[in-house]
Amino acid sequence: MKVLITGATGLIGQAITDLCSEKGISVNYLTTDRTKIKNEVNYRGFYWQPKNNEIDVKCFEGVTAIINLAGTNIARRWTKPNKEIILSSRTDSLKTLYNALKNLNYQERISFISASAIGIYPNSLSDFYTEEETNVDASFLGDVSAIWESETDKFQELNCNVAKIRIGLVLSAEGGALPNMANAVKKFMGASFGSGEQWQSWIHVNDIARMFLFALENNLSGVYNGVAPNPVTNKKMVKELAKVLKKPLFLPDIPQFALRLILGEMSYLLLASQRVSSKKIEKEGFIFQFNNICSALENIYSEEVKKDNTDDVLSGEYV
Ligand SMILES: NC(=O)c1ccc[n+]([C@@H]2O[C@H](COP(=O)([O-])OP(=O)(O)OC[C@H]3O[C@@H](n4cnc5c(N)ncnc54)[C@H](OP(=O)(O)O)[C@@H]3O)[C@@H](O)[C@H]2O)c1
Repeated sequence: MKVLITGATGLIGQAITDLCSEKGISVNYLTTDRTKIKNEVNYRGFYWQPKNNEIDVKCFEGVTAIINLAGTNIARRWTKPNKEIILSSRTDSLKTLYNALKNLNYQERISFISASAIGIYPNSLSDFYTEEETNVDASFLGDVSAIWESETDKFQELNCNVAKIRIGLVLSAEGGALPNMANAVKKFMGASFGSGEQWQSWIHVNDIARMFLFALENNLSGVYNGVAPNPVTNKKMVKELAKVLKKPLFLPDIPQFALRLILGEMSYLLLASQRVSSKKIEKEGFIFQFNNICSALENIYSEEVKKDNTDDVLSGEYV
């Protein structure tokens, strides 16, 4: 099997390509950065520039599935120009793929699996969201996710088998939000955001990578939530992180108004609450490696903590 991946050089994309390599699945990938192009036997990079509808169509050769992850980081100030880039990087990528596939007149039925985000669900402390929810959050994130999904649906017109994975907060030491949270805890500056009562529907990076390949291998179509079975509140997440990192938490919660002052509208990323169900993908037979926040964080940080303790002993800190 050969899969084409966009955004393959990012956090989730790298985890997926590692898994593909373990499973003997060949990867072609599209990158907007020529310096990231590699030409290995089972890992070949191709250049594209979606904002100009530019794509090297050789990337489609032998491909039976596409995984779409492309999009600029949303954790940048939500100014008007940045909002435009966040949205257009996603829609332009989909449109560029769509136009290229249409022109190629592909005969084979392609599996098309695209990233979406749980930010599509309305902000709520009490609701528990399944994929059947039709209301969309009245926020920039809700708008982006809804437009992203409707652009993805257009691939059905090309006879593709379309699946969308609404990704939660991806936990990894390599990127995303977790390293910043962990750094704050390590410097004794860890604290919950706002009331800390907001739900965080998280997923370990290995599980989200496995879920994309599960969707591919099982020909899934429709919407699936990319979250672990046990969401936690922000307060619980920070507490568990401190426990795993063996650091105390001193500081009071950071009030909403302070976050708004520092981050502007983007503070919504830290304050919005979505408690999201993983039942649908589990019913398809997907088994999570990391069900609970403690096991996920321990997997990510325990080696690092052990190493830090050893370094401390060696440097005489505990003597
Ligand atoms: N990580 C999370 O917690 C999370 C949660 C919900 C949803 N998601 C979504 O899942 C997708 C993958 O997430 P990630 O954490 O792996 O993101 P990431 O690490 O930021 O990687 C995204 C990739 O998209 C490509 N890209 C950036 N700007 C682009 C543009 N203007 N046009 C086309 N491609 C562009 C980049 O690849 P090149 O430099 O090679 O072009 C980059 O490596 C993203 O769309 C993200 O919004 C992530």
